[in-house]
Amino acid sequence: MIPLRFLIVGPGGMGAGHVAALQTLPDATLVGVCDVNPEVRQLFTDQGLPAFEKWDDLYASVEADCALINLPHYLYPEAVIAGLERGLHVLKEKPFARNLPDAERMAAAAEATGRVLMVAGQTKFLPAFQKAHELIATGALGNIFLARYSIIYYWGGARENKWSWRGKQELSGGVAIIDSGYHPLDQMQWFRGLPEAVYAVTGKMKAAPGTDYDVDDKAVVTLEYPDGGIGVVTICFVTEPGENHLLLHGTNASLDVQGQCATLLPQEGAAEEFTFAETDALAAEQREFMAAIREHRAPLGAPDHALQVQRVIEAAYQSAETGRRVML
Ligand SMILES: NC(=O)c1ccc[n+]([C@@H]2O[C@H](COP(=O)([O-])OP(=O)(O)OC[C@H]3O[C@@H](n4cnc5c(N)ncnc54)[C@H](O)[C@@H]3O)[C@@H](O)[C@H]2O)c1
Repeated sequence: MIPLRFLIVGPGGMGAGHVAALQTLPDATLVGVCDVNPEVRQLFTDQGLPAFEKWDDLYASVEADCALINLPHYLYPEAVIAGLERGLHVLKEKPFARNLPDAERMAAAAEATGRVLMVAGQTKFLPAFQKAHELIATGALGNIFLARYSIIYYWGGARENKWSWRGKQELSGGVAIIDSGYHPLDQMQWFRGLPEAVYAVTGKMKAAPGTDYDVDDKAVVTLEYPDGGIGVVTICFVTEPGENHLLLHGTNASLDVQGQCATLLPQEGAAEEFTFAETDALAAEQREFMAAIREHRAPLGAPDHALQVQRVIEAAYQSAETGRRVML
């Protein structure tokens, strides 16, 4: 199989993880990068790869099939649309955008150019979560009346006051709900579809006092589904102990998903445990992107799906600001 040629825009930060994952794939090859940080560029020129400061120069100078784009949120529309218009398929880091209009512009560009656009969300590619999706689809849980997801972790930069663009609402669009919360809201969309109402609180107390940010640092988001089921997502990224835990309660069974393990707990009968080996979720995500390109199909994380997640995020922020439930 001829390897797909990748450009990476922003190969520092989270992009470094994508570079490492890409290098494990035999049917992908990295052909060029761009980054504003000269130290990041140097890492690639040392390997003999072309490295530019600007994505326009990268797109114009290096022949490629696709671009993996990992940037501060406010930069996505320009970098993604320019890539699509150059004929590149694009895998971009989550969230889709810092706001719905930016997301819609990128989705429209993908539609107009006919290129694959995929919004990353690697937790969907963890085997225990894939198993959860399969069990739901086969009806093993029955009707899901309650879905609970907690994502809690300690992001070091917060208490060290290294918020940079993340801490500025205008540049990031927020943090707890849109950034850390992207993973659970992405999964909830995948498992349960679009809620009809969203209610959220973010609280006024700072979780990292004495540091400089104007974004949400914790949140509780409740989701009401058209079938009468409900969901609750709890998010904080500046505290410990960490947790990444999904619990679904259905009329036939509950399902507990944590780490590499999914446990099905039927209303009657013995629990069934599915345990998986650790896998590289970023590599799995990249494989899905490449398969979508080769098979001329939409990937998991396509604009249609990511736009719905963005609508929920937008509704959650609106609710947190107004103190009201927002109907979708
Ligand atoms: N999937 C995950 O688990 C996960 C985790 C962390 C971050 N992210 C996402 O990854 C994205 C980037 O986050 P990050 O923490 O890597 O950010 P970052 O601030 O480290 O920036 C990423 C890279 O972009 C480069 N960059 C910044 N401005 C640029 C420009 N104008 N042109 C070219 N390069 C530029 C930076 O130098 C850096 O190398 C965000 O969308 C974030 O939400 C995802």
